[in-house]
Parts: sequence; structure tokens; C-alpha cells
Amino acid sequence: MKLVLLLCLCAVGALAQDDYDDYGEGKKEAKEVVDPRGHRPVSRGRETYSPGPVSQPPISGGTRYRGRPTAAPVGKAVQEKEEQPESGGCNHMSEKMGVLCPTGCELKKALIKQERNVKPTVEQLKRAVDDLTQSTNSIHGYVLDMTAEVAQRQKVSEGNGLVVDQYTDSLETQHAYIKDTVDVTFPQNIKVLQGVLDKIREKIQRLEKAITTQRAKCQAPCKVTCPIPVVSGKECEDIIRKGGEDSQMYIIRPDPLGTPYKVFCDQTSKNGGWVLIQNRMDGSVDFGRRWDDYRRGFGNIAFDVGKGHCQTPGEYWLGNDRISQLSKMGATELLVEMEDWSGSKVYAQYEQFSMQGEASNYILGVGRYSGTAGNTFLEGATELFGENRTMTIHNGMMFSTYDRDNDKWIPGDPSKQCSKEDGGGWWYNRCHSCNPNGRYYWGGAYTKYMAKHGTDDGIVWMNWKGSWYSLKTISMKIRPYFKQK
Ligand SMILES: *[C@@H]1O[C@H](CO)[C@@H](O)[C@H](O)[C@H]1NC(C)=O
Repeated sequence: MKLVLLLCLCAVGALAQDDYDDYGEGKKEAKEVVDPRGHRPVSRGRETYSPGPVSQPPISGGTRYRGRPTAAPVGKAVQEKEEQPESGGCNHMSEKMGVLCPTGCELKKALIKQERNVKPTVEQLKRAVDDLTQSTNSIHGYVLDMTAEVAQRQKVSEGNGLVVDQYTDSLETQHAYIKDTVDVTFPQNIKVLQGVLDKIREKIQRLEKAITTQRAKCQAPCKVTCPIPVVSGKECEDIIRKGGEDSQMYIIRPDPLGTPYKVFCDQTSKNGGWVLIQNRMDGSVDFGRRWDDYRRGFGNIAFDVGKGHCQTPGEYWLGNDRISQLSKMGATELLVEMEDWSGSKVYAQYEQFSMQGEASNYILGVGRYSGTAGNTFLEGATELFGENRTMTIHNGMMFSTYDRDNDKWIPGDPSKQCSKEDGGGWWYNRCHSCNPNGRYYWGGAYTKYMAKHGTDDGIVWMNWKGSWYSLKTISMKIRPYFKQK
């Protein structure tokens, strides 16, 4: 608990820019630049294709795949209780805890949630100290009585011989011991407890101050302050063709009848033209969200880190309706890039990507894998075999969130829902071989004791790092597919 409080205090600096439903103005058409990039076919013949094979039959039975049991690192209980560093800053925290470090408006929510939890705990502690004080008093009274009794016995025993002397001796020894306990040990313990209590009070005061500050800062809806680029287009591929070659935030309008919206365009990876549809990089955005949030999209599109334009993407999910709509414009490919905590990078690319509409619960279709990360979407977890593996394939699955269960793990049973256990919205089967929308764990390795439900709920890509390693960054990007020369 203490740790979480400190974590909350650590991130006051970075103000999140939640611009999700803010469509900004200042959009101008750029001068058309004709095919500035030699690598693209001049006529953008989009291939059509049908989504990959749709799903396996639901598997019956009571279990789900939860990560290979033998592979789960079992942290010793003692280690888990290790004392945490006392003062703030995300970087000072024990990496083992893997607690999300909220920023900006996320921080506000987390702080208020924590405040609610802390107050009763402190009250409880206070009551315990009071109780202890009281029981100390009554023991003190008891000792006084005993002292009187000893004195009386001493009187009575005079002349009663050796037996009584011995009895009295032992009584006196006991008396001395109890008196010492009451006079020295108890008060010391109480002093320690009161010290703890004072410290917690102090922390709460600081926390309350921080909450007040955050509240003030978050009162006005957060805004993106950087200018909108002059180039815009149907999507990022369109924009790069028009000369928008910098990776940054742009406004796109895939549907001429629809509302334009902001996205981050990656114009550098693998020739660019990618619409960033998902991004994780620092745990600043909560991905444990409802169906409606995933449908509409959430998070921060991009930040200006001082260069006058939004060239740093935030953590976000573009929104199932938008992703689905983009993928329906024509053949689409998907690039998933990820990085571990020691800087190694791998990717998974699918030349086919499709996402059905909400009426079909956004069924995922991917095909034609290449890459270095491992083909989790189509093959499932390669460390598993038979049914255990097929139940981790994501291709053909419907989308599930904690409030809308469409997975293949005993449909209809509220205690068997992947999204509830694994932290995010995703195309869960029973349950996953990759979990890009899972919980963000600082430092990578985590254990089932750190997971909310004991399951591998981190940002997992099993075919690269297994179930108990949560990636540092992961992103998903799509662009129109065309055959490379
Ligand atoms: C599937 O997993 C269960 C539980 O770990 C194991 O008992 C079973 O042998 C596995 N099946 C296969 C085909 O590996």
C-alpha cells in the first residue's frame, strides 16, 4: 500500500494530453506531391482477400491455458514482502513490484482511488494502538494488584519456613519479569507503533496535497498544445504520398462522410505509411477498460516534447470501430513491433489483416506471417502442444473486454472470462499467446503473486519471452497492403 502511494506521488510532472475526442482545427490540404517515394507502386492496386480461417470450434472443459505451470517463476513469500524503498520517483522503486506509474489525469484517478483505501487502514491502525494502550493499562493495574499481594504474602510468610520462602521467591521473579514487560517493553512497542502512525499521517497529508494539486490541474479537459500538420489524408499511407514524411500526429479522414480524427503516423518503419492503432511504452494509460472504451478508443495520441510538434506517440488504443473501418477500405497489413527491457527488438508482420464490425464482435483475421517475434496470432504458443496450443490462437477470435465476454473459455460462465483475468481487451481465445493490452509491469519479469488473478496478465508475447515476462514497449500499426516490387 505504502509503495503505491509513493508511486502515485512520483509522476506529477508529466501531464497527460487526453485529446481523444478533440478534433482540432487548422486542417489544410497540402500541395499534392506525386509519388515522392520510389518504392511504392504508382497505381495502388489493393489486393483483396478473405480473412484467415475463422476460428476453431469452442473447446469444452474446465481449464484454460494459464502459462506453463512449470515455467512460472515462484517468488519466495519472503522476497515478496521485502521492504520497499522509502522515497519517490518511479526509478527508485523496486522493479519487482511492477506497479503502474500513472501520469497526469491517470494519476488523479489513481490517487483518489488510493486515498479511499488508505484512510480506513490508518483508522484501523489507530484503533489498534488505542486498544493496545488500554490493554497496557489493565495489565498495569494487574501488576499493581500483584505487587500488593506479594507484599501481603511476605508478611504472612514470615515464620512459615522454607517452603513459603521458595514460593515467594518464584512469585517475586515472575512479578519482576511481568513488571519489566509492562514498564519497558510495552511502552517501547507503543512508541514504535505511534511513530509508524505519525509517519503514515504525514504521508496522507502529502498525498492530500498532491491530490488537490492534481485536481486543480485536471479540472480543465487536457489539450494537445502542438500544431496540427498541414498535410492530411485518408490515412498515413496517403499522407506520406502527399509529402508528410515525418512520424508524428496527423489528422486523417478515412471515410469521406465520417469525422476526421487524430492518429500517430509512423512514416519511418519499413518505408512508413503506418497508422498506429495500439501503443504501449510506459504504463501511463490504463488498458483494463470496458467494451465502449475499446470501441471508441482511448489514451493519448501524441505529445510535444519540446520540438513544436507532436512527434512522440502516447499510449493509446485507436478504437475498434476505427480500426475495423480502416481495415475494410481494402487489403491491409499489420506490423507488431516490440522491445524487451534490455533493448532487444523483434517484430511480427502479417500481410493480411482484417477486423469485422461490432455486429460480429470485431472478429480478427490475419494471414501471411513474417518476422522475428513468433507467429502467436496464427500458431498460438509454440511451447504448448495439441489442444493446449490451439486454445491460444488469436486468429478468428472475437474481441472481449471485462464487461463483454466473447472468448472461447466456457462461454456464459462469469468466472471463466479471459479478459477479467488477463488485464485488457483482446481477441482472447482460452486465453492467449500474446497479450499486448495487458498490465504494464515495470522491469519485465513478474510472478503470479504479482498478478491480480495469478494469471499471466502482463504485456506478453509468449513465442518470444514466455508468459512471465512483460514487454517494455509494443505497438501495432496497419497500412494498405500492396505487393512489394
Ligand atoms: C495440456 O496441459 C495440461 C495441463 O498442463 C497437461 O496435463 C496436458 O498433458 C497438456 N496436453 C498436451 C497435449 O500437451
